Amino acid sequence: MKSKNKKHLIITLCILVISIVTLVFSNINKEDEDLAVIAEKVNNTIIPKPINYKEAEGKFTLNKDTKIYVKGNTEEETTEITRIAEYLKGKLSPSTGYEFTIVKNEVPSGNSIYLTTVEGKEELGNEGYELTTTTDGIILKAYKPEGLFRGIQTIRQLLPAEIAKSTLVNNVEWSIPASTIYDKPEYAYRGFMIDVARHFFPEDVIKQQIDYAAQYKINRLHLHLTDDQGWRIEIKKYPDLTLIGGSTQVGGGPGGYYTQEQFKSIVQYAADRYIEIIPEVDMPGHTNAALASLAFLNPDGKRKPLYTGIDVGFSTLMTDSEETYEFIENVVKEISAISPSKYFHMGGDEADSTKKEDYDYFVGRVSKIVQKYGKTPIGWDPIDTAPEINSSTILQNWKASNEAAREKNMNMIISIASKAYLDMKYNSATPYGLNWAGYIPVETAYNWDPTDYAPKNLVLGIESPLWTENIATEDEMEFMIYPRLLGYSEIGWTPKSSRNWPEYKVRLERQGLRMENEGINYYKDKDIWKSK
Ligand code: ACM
Repeated sequence: MKSKNKKHLIITLCILVISIVTLVFSNINKEDEDLAVIAEKVNNTIIPKPINYKEAEGKFTLNKDTKIYVKGNTEEETTEITRIAEYLKGKLSPSTGYEFTIVKNEVPSGNSIYLTTVEGKEELGNEGYELTTTTDGIILKAYKPEGLFRGIQTIRQLLPAEIAKSTLVNNVEWSIPASTIYDKPEYAYRGFMIDVARHFFPEDVIKQQIDYAAQYKINRLHLHLTDDQGWRIEIKKYPDLTLIGGSTQVGGGPGGYYTQEQFKSIVQYAADRYIEIIPEVDMPGHTNAALASLAFLNPDGKRKPLYTGIDVGFSTLMTDSEETYEFIENVVKEISAISPSKYFHMGGDEADSTKKEDYDYFVGRVSKIVQKYGKTPIGWDPIDTAPEINSSTILQNWKASNEAAREKNMNMIISIASKAYLDMKYNSATPYGLNWAGYIPVETAYNWDPTDYAPKNLVLGIESPLWTENIATEDEMEFMIYPRLLGYSEIGWTPKSSRNWPEYKVRLERQGLRMENEGINYYKDKDIWKSK
């Protein structure tokens, strides 16, 4: 090439590179500008987004004399609302240093937060609420006390982010903008799951996670109590299940289990936050811990060795043994007696060592045992493909195929792995978690809807599961759950038509400080928290 031509080519290439760089940067700037415009318009931080939020003139400011008034339609209801008021007081007192005296059954004067079901509209259902804030105070009204509990989460989020601190904060004006909110959930089931089998997490860790999730109006926690690596719930008839089956975990750590008293304590703690605990005993696969504990569950009458790896699909209960069903019945009976939930999760996933016809027979029979103890069975797909499984069982849909469930009109909980699994890494740099269903960045976690996978009339709601093959500590757990759970809570609560990522992103950014103040170890995605 002549040197003149070469010079031309170099100049042209330089211009091209400069143009591309300019274009990319101007797009980034444009994105920032767009976000700033949206941020101007977004006048609150609330997640999940309420159905209707209207700001008015002025504000209400809490002070040392602010009281909480409570009144139900009956004495019993007033007592229940008093407990909700105590909870609210417990969340507002540490940072403000104010007393928040609770007053029962009196007409509130000004400078008050009034929690009441009196004249609460039936159309609000169990969880809806109306929240009116004027310069005089706050009136929170609901049809049921549960709606008041959801509503106080909104009050917390309307206050400055410092409210989330557990120590006294000075020099903050504790005010809420005058506003009216009308709110109720899109879906009745808004849950998350913790796998306590692969790694065991003690009672206090589970309670902490329940309390964190409650502020986002989550109302179900599914505990995956048994798997190949561990059996985590005391069954009095079979002490070896926990003595042996609870003695280790993935990687060979000490494992652990909940006594029935501890399980009841978790259930009560959750119920106090209007969260229902759903117990799961996974079967016929994912059962090595049981097979290692009880010799009679094995074809050769010998206990299997304990397992601390992370393979799946190698274990199965004997589907043609009456002793197996007697065992299951005893387990279901004991757990049902300490679990007030109307649901019992019977697993049913990845039974790769069970022949399809045996699987079908087994899940059909176990679903009837579950029903005998007054519970509605839930099962992972492919439970819906078993002929004996019908619309009295709920499908928890984790793979995309739910054709059989649709044909049978089965209700579904949507937990599609590539969208809803909390154990999937955010991206290739995420230090824990897995990626077999792909990476799930915060945006991907938010940008979907249950109706992408099932007809609305069959969708009970959504659940985001945290499997713990390589999640071993509370910090790691929180890093995977937060901030994605906020998005899942909004998918479950807020109608699809009111949700969009750019606007959500503004509210999520603002929630960062709250999570920080509360001590949640969330993943500080650079795309959302740019300065961090
Ligand atoms: C599952 O992820 N095995 C339900």
